[in-house]
Amino acid sequence: MKSSRVTLIAWLFACLSDQSVGYPDGKVYEACSTMMPLHGHLPQKFPKHTIKVNVTEFKPGDRVKVSLSGPTFEGFFLQARNADHLEDPAVGSFALADQRRSQLLTCGHVKNSAVSHTSKSKKNHLDAYWIAPRDAPKKIQFLVTVVQKYSIFWVKIPGPTIFQPNTPPLTTIMSTNWNIPTSLPVSYLSQPFNSSDCGDRKFCVRNPTNCDPKANNCFFLSFKQDYDSLLIEMSGPSEGYIAFALSHDQWMGGGDDAYLCISEGHRVDISTAFLIGRSYPEFDSKNALEKMSWRLADGLIQCSFRRRIHLPVVTGRFNLDANYYIFLADGEVGEGGVIYKHHQQPLITNGKYNVLGPLKDIGGSRSPFLIKIHGALMFVGWITTVSIGVIIARFFKSVWPNTLLFGEEIWFQVHRTLMIITVLLTSASFVLPFVYRGGWNKQAGFHPYFGCVVMALALFQPLMAAFRPPPQAPRRQIFNWLHWTAGTTARILAVVTMFLGMDLPALNLPDPWDTYTMIGFVAWHVGTDVLLEIHGYCLIRKVEVLEDDRIQILQSITSAEAQGHTFKKAVLLIYICGNIAFLVTFITAVMQV
Ligand code: HEM
Ligand SMILES: *[C@@H]1O[C@H](CO)[C@@H](O)[C@H](O)[C@H]1NC(C)=O
Ligand SMILES: *[C@@H]1O[C@H](CO)[C@@H](O)[C@H](O)[C@H]1NC(C)=O
Repeated sequence: MKSSRVTLIAWLFACLSDQSVGYPDGKVYEACSTMMPLHGHLPQKFPKHTIKVNVTEFKPGDRVKVSLSGPTFEGFFLQARNADHLEDPAVGSFALADQRRSQLLTCGHVKNSAVSHTSKSKKNHLDAYWIAPRDAPKKIQFLVTVVQKYSIFWVKIPGPTIFQPNTPPLTTIMSTNWNIPTSLPVSYLSQPFNSSDCGDRKFCVRNPTNCDPKANNCFFLSFKQDYDSLLIEMSGPSEGYIAFALSHDQWMGGGDDAYLCISEGHRVDISTAFLIGRSYPEFDSKNALEKMSWRLADGLIQCSFRRRIHLPVVTGRFNLDANYYIFLADGEVGEGGVIYKHHQQPLITNGKYNVLGPLKDIGGSRSPFLIKIHGALMFVGWITTVSIGVIIARFFKSVWPNTLLFGEEIWFQVHRTLMIITVLLTSASFVLPFVYRGGWNKQAGFHPYFGCVVMALALFQPLMAAFRPPPQAPRRQIFNWLHWTAGTTARILAVVTMFLGMDLPALNLPDPWDTYTMIGFVAWHVGTDVLLEIHGYCLIRKVEVLEDDRIQILQSITSAEAQGHTFKKAVLLIYICGNIAFLVTFITAVMQV
């Protein structure tokens, strides 16, 4: 700051001594509001230069390409302003497209809110990008001052106007009889909140459930009634913003009533917004909040404010004496205070609550219900039913040879039933993420791709089995081979898919616990497989040896087999117990996130 002032003074002297130079380095801070070059000449009347933009509409966070072109010029000064109040200061910030010939200037308090030349080199074209801020007015107009040479310049050449579509009508209907203090005093919180009154004198939402807002790695929200208003405290670890919203359903959007505390580095902006769709929140120009205060310390954003329980209907704010789902989210903030989508799944309470009472001290889940069901059902299918079904078919064909179940051998009935259950579970839970997302989620990495292959193989298996050739047919071998290959591939891919799915943000099972447990399951399963395989091999050897010795006592062969069967049944029983233990562990974890 100081050095730029020194440069400025230096340039002022330079100007006085050399009238032909002006501000060849483009650091024209004086021009911030008037956009007038201090050249001591009158501006020209009919502009020859034009600004073009690549959009007609914008929303907060958008990048708009701004191009200036026309006859050769030396200097320029570009800003974006509120089209309805062109005298107001510059709006939004710029990013450079041409680092060599252009530079960013800070006008007023808005960083990088103007662009200018870096030297008086001749140019006839220049591009820059404008980044729409969070609180942008509805209409933005670009304005540029162009200096052809020292004495020939045009001031505030009007450029195109761009619009912010569907700004909520609420801001315009906002009636005047709604008395909100015009100056909202914002103060600094001297000490962190505490959770000592939770569930007792205030309604709290905590994540994790034992969160103490003094600790910097947990989220805390509390509501405390005070006559006709509520004192709301919110705290959470974030560099960007923390926010909560009240909703009639478990989905974001539909006009949810949101409250955001946005860190601007050295201060916190406390705002209200509506979550209309699943996209950018629509900020309210009028603030329904009173007694706002904040604190930024140790990576923690804390803010507190007061809100009246009932606000006029036109404000669109929900009355606080009804039942709502409560969301708690956090995320990053970009240039111009633009907030980014939460980087972890927001917390959603597991039911609707009235924050006025009964006073509760609750947690919530960061994982959407549908995704939880997806994970849980897939676990049932690909940890339990598929594994037992395959083991039965591979090792237990001969164990109950004379008992039929509904006219078929037991092993076959069990195998077929378990496999059909697996396919049904997979199909049912396969659709859930799509229902939840309303489409394909590109951010879910390889999990969905592997998942689709598993689904396809899972559907292919029963189809192929239904059209299998009879046992004696020569093509039966091909079927056996295909059935085994497709099934084994599906199971291996399913394990990979599960490994990838467990750590997706929408179902963040505790890490690395989940990975180790899954490795444990794989070891348990492969161990059992190997054990049964070796046992089968030994049994065949034993029977062969008995036959070889020509002892030919059928009795001993059968007794060897019978022993083998007892062993296998014991292994199966133990395996199933272990398998179900793993399944229960995973499902418990899914239900707890
Ligand atoms: C092996 C069986 C599985 C298959 C075939 C499968 C398949 C899929 C598919 C196709 C998607 C769609 C992604 C999208 O919306 O674009 C998906 C999403 C998801 N799956 Fe699985 N999945 C399986 C197992 C699991 C398991 C065991 C878990 C976790 C414990 C899991 C967690 C998830 C999560 C969290 C998503 C949502 C990603 C998001 O939209 O944020 N999946 N899965
Ligand atoms: C306009 O240009 C910016 C910057 O190159 C780009 O990010 C944006 O997508 C463009 N918009 C349209 C509608 O082409
Ligand atoms: C918790 O905060 C309240 C004021 O909000 C204060 O009166 C109380 O003493 C605090 N309790 C603890 C244990 O710090």
